[in-house]
Amino acid sequence: MRFSIYEKTGFGFLVAACLVWGVDFTGNILVKAEPLQKAVFMAAKAPAAEKAAPAAKAEGSVMAMLADADTGAGQKAFKKCKACHSTDKGGKNKVGPNLWDIVGKAKAAGSGFKYSDALKGLGGDWSYQDLDAFLVSPKAFAKGTKMSFKGLSKAKDRAAVIAYLRSLSDQPKPLP
Ligand code: HEC
Repeated sequence: MRFSIYEKTGFGFLVAACLVWGVDFTGNILVKAEPLQKAVFMAAKAPAAEKAAPAAKAEGSVMAMLADADTGAGQKAFKKCKACHSTDKGGKNKVGPNLWDIVGKAKAAGSGFKYSDALKGLGGDWSYQDLDAFLVSPKAFAKGTKMSFKGLSKAKDRAAVIAYLRSLSDQPKPLP
């Protein structure tokens, strides 16, 4: 088989184009590899730093943690609750009742919300202890509750969320 000069030139360009693309592609991979390695390194280091934190807090009790719990972190963690709860003063009830000024408030006392018998039967106010117990496992604390949320298993998250709930008030209640 014989190729004309035009065919040979065209083929040459094609090979050249492939080479340029190939070098560029490989170059990209080499450049990308470096930040990735850094990220992997940092991820490997993170758990050690996290483990050190709870050890510093004597026994990790939520009541003890409340004083310096991070309200901002609580607001972030509250994203899990937002689908069902509004937090503004006079805010609307959603799937769950509005939570403005909930700390220290009588249980199941939000206006215009239809509570389950389970929640109505609890009695008393939302003390820090009761909020903590409820948020570990709503179902365990109020058997038959309508709040279908599995709970916040980490003490640090509960402390942060409760600190955030406390801040939703014109006059936040004294810390325990
Ligand atoms: C899937 C919806 C849903 C999610 C998610 C949810 N809740 Fe609820 N919550 C409810 C409902 C419904 C009730 C009323 C329960 C009842 O009547 O049994 C309730 C009740 C409450 C109450 C008691 C209010 C009162 O007036 O006595 C508190 C406090 C509360 N929720 C906090 C939270 C927090 C904090 C989170 C996030 C960590 C959360 N909830 C996530 C639906 C939800």
